[in-house]
Formats: sequence, C-alpha cells, structure tokens
Amino acid sequence: MLTLEDVFPPFALRIACGDVELRVLRDDDLPELVELAHAGIQSPDLPMPFLRAWHEEPWGPGEPDGFPTTSLRWWWTQRATFAPEEWRLALTVRRDGVLAGMQDLHALDFARSRTVDTGSWLGRAHQGRGTGTLVRQLVVGFALDELGAQRCESGYVVGNHASAAVSRKTGYTEEGRRRIVQHLRDGEREVDEQRVAVTPATFVRPAGPVRVEGAAALRRFLAIGHATPSG
Ligand SMILES: CC(C)(COP(=O)(O)OP(=O)(O)OC[C@H]1O[C@@H](n2cnc3c(N)ncnc32)[C@H](O)[C@@H]1OP(=O)(O)O)[C@@H](O)C(=O)NCCC(=O)NCCS
Repeated sequence: MLTLEDVFPPFALRIACGDVELRVLRDDDLPELVELAHAGIQSPDLPMPFLRAWHEEPWGPGEPDGFPTTSLRWWWTQRATFAPEEWRLALTVRRDGVLAGMQDLHALDFARSRTVDTGSWLGRAHQGRGTGTLVRQLVVGFALDELGAQRCESGYVVGNHASAAVSRKTGYTEEGRRRIVQHLRDGEREVDEQRVAVTPATFVRPAGPVRVEGAAALRRFLAIGHATPSG
C-alpha cells in the first residue's frame, strides 16, 4: 500500500546535522508548534521581524480568528498550493527531537530562476545557541547542492542583529535596502528591510557532516532536472 510520503514526497524529506533535524511540517506537529510560538518569539531588544505580527494575535485555540487559526490557514495553504511553478517548504526545526522553530524555503518559477528565498524563526528559549545559524546553513546547502539553486535570497528588518549575524555567517552579502510595510497589532508601520543573497561562491557550509534523505523524490515532485547522489 502507498504511504503518505509516496503520495506527497515533501513529507519524506529529512535534512540533519548533529542533533538538529529539518522536516516538512505535518499536522501532528501543530500543537507543539502553536505552543512554541505562543511562548514567545521576539527578543525585546530586536525589531518585530515579520511582515504581519501573526504571533501576537489574540490567543484562541479553537476560536474562529486570532492565533492559531489564522496561522493554520497559512500553513495549510502552503501545502494546498504546492506546485513546480511556486512552492513553499515549511520546515520544522527540531533539536534533540524538541521543536525549536521553523525554517521556510520558497521558490517562484524555480526551473528558470534557480533562486530560493528563506525566512525563519525560533522560540525564545531556543535562540542564541547557534541553532539559527546551523539551520540556515543546512537549508542553503540543501537548495544549492540538492535542488541546484544558484542563489538564495533573504531579508531582515534593519536592526535585527541576530538575523544579520546568521546571514553573515552563512556567506550572504548585502544587496541594498527596500521599504516594507509591517502589519502590527496597533496598525501599520514602514521599516527598512536589508536584502541579502548567497551564491555557491560565497556559501559557508556547516562544520559537521550533513545527512539528506528524500531529495530525489522531492526533485521529481518539483519537476527539477538536477541529478545529485544523496537520494
Ligand atoms: C534570527 C534567529 C533565527 C537567529 O537564530 P539564533 O539561534 O538565535 O542565532 P545564533 O545562536 O545562531 O546566533 C547568530 C548570531 O546572532 C547573534 N544574536 C543572537 N541573538 C541576538 C540578540 N538578541 N541581539 C543581537 N545579536 C544576537 C549571536 O550573537 C550570533 O552572532 P555571533 O556568532 O556573531 O555572536 C532567531 O534569533 C530568531 O528566531 N529571532 C526571531 C525571529 C527572527 O528574527 N527571524 C529572522 C527574520 S525572518
């Protein structure tokens, strides 16, 4: 009989290094994920990192609006709209099996653009231990080595020193700033976003050995013609 991984290959993906593992978000992860976000993400000394303050919406599991209902819609939309022309991998970050945060990988017209875009967050209790840097190095390495990306882009609100440091330590270079609008609980605010990008020439790899499973099936599912050996 077919497995869930056979019919939706992103679920078979596993990227691991040391005690850190990335896998595509499943429904079974949701209670732990919602509790993690509810326990806090934003450091008080750093700017609000997201376009929309989804993590600050009124707490109401099982309620028609607020958190987590609006976020559930977003996470499920990513799965429902998955296609070679545009896909988003919502990757859970687990350290020693404990959910620590999320790493997103998004691509538009990847066959031609060979470009991906990333975003990430960790729960407060998991920040400042090197996990964010390792996770970004893992996802960039996966995009470059396994998917054949030529370029990974990201961006952070100017003043987000943690995200800037993660980008720098992964080999990203600065690419100019743009004005973005953040949707906060008390209205909208314009801030400057620093755009950054990393290519195979500048990428800084993780120190330890990386294990990848399920890449070949994912490439087939994404109609990516790129043969690499990891499987
Ligand atoms: C950004 C984030 C993913 C980084 O992950 P992390 O595991 O905390 O980062 P690391 O432990 O790998 O540290 C990376 C660097 O950030 C620095 N850093 C961490 N927290 C910091 C803080 N509050 N202020 C300033 N620098 C900080 C560390 O000193 C380190 O730099 P160094 O090695 O030069 O000393 C995480 O802090 C986070 O989730 N923040 C909230 C959401 C967010 O900002 N997401 C990114 C934008 S979408």
